[in-house]
Amino acid sequence: MLKGRNLIDPSDLSMEEIDEIMGLTREIVNNPKEFAHVCDGMLLGSLFYEPSTRTRLSFEAAMLRLGGKVVGFSEPGSSSVQKGESLNDTLRTVGAYTDIIVMRHPKEGAPKLGADLCPVPLINAGDGGHQHPTQTLTDLYTILESKGSLDNLVLGFCGDLQFGRTVHSLIKAMSRYKNVKFVLISPVELEVPEYIKTEILDKNEVEYIEVERLEDVIDTLDILYMTRVQKERFFNEVDYIRLKDSYILDLKKLEKAKKDLAILHPLPRVNEIKVEVDSDPRAKYFKQVKNGMFVRMALIAKLLGVK
Ligand code: CP
Repeated sequence: MLKGRNLIDPSDLSMEEIDEIMGLTREIVNNPKEFAHVCDGMLLGSLFYEPSTRTRLSFEAAMLRLGGKVVGFSEPGSSSVQKGESLNDTLRTVGAYTDIIVMRHPKEGAPKLGADLCPVPLINAGDGGHQHPTQTLTDLYTILESKGSLDNLVLGFCGDLQFGRTVHSLIKAMSRYKNVKFVLISPVELEVPEYIKTEILDKNEVEYIEVERLEDVIDTLDILYMTRVQKERFFNEVDYIRLKDSYILDLKKLEKAKKDLAILHPLPRVNEIKVEVDSDPRAKYFKQVKNGMFVRMALIAKLLGVK
């Protein structure tokens, strides 16, 4: 039963609950009009303490397309956060006005701390370099749509695996499926954090390798998950400038890749995928953008317990 629950971490959802959300997403994609009024009279609180295009606007579009309405802020400086109000007080206040809240926050763990006092379901829309569970649902739906299954896949993650919260969440979620292997492609400085290796990969006995060159492994991949180097999480600009163009995917590199490779990227991209790749049928990242709205419609409907 998902009604009334929070979504803070991908592991908050069982595999059966993920299947339920995927199934409802499919129904919404096929018959969006049938869902146009299921949230009539309901309100989403949208609290973004960090910039966002896709997550914020897809959540807001999702609620509007379900018949609900949205209040909130995209710039905490325009709210009483500016006067020093605590996160808990903000959540209690917005929870008094709304039926469900989505929040992005720069501090890792902020949604988990806030959830205890929040009077309505709270959805984590990204906390620092930690987790981004609704991007993961979007990614799972896109993989399922491209491959027909979440089992028996070789997934390559390429770029900033240290700070990329979408990578951490997707590794956590995909580690539960059968016969999944990970190829972790990054400069040494941007490898996945140690806790992901010990607490998720080793603990679940998931096979993985770490490499530095995409060219050496691209032919082995079923999914290539490209990521941006996360400028906002670097401590100094010199390191960012040195590492920012570590990987640039172009059509030449894709010559060696499988014909049915699916290329995903949570976006925004900077330089890591050349625009020439966008028209390759293997590029799924704009499909992924659209899927994000439908997945969030399904998630809102489930957490609010509407049919
Ligand atoms: N994928 C994602 O989280 O994008 P935004 O930062 O634009 O929300």
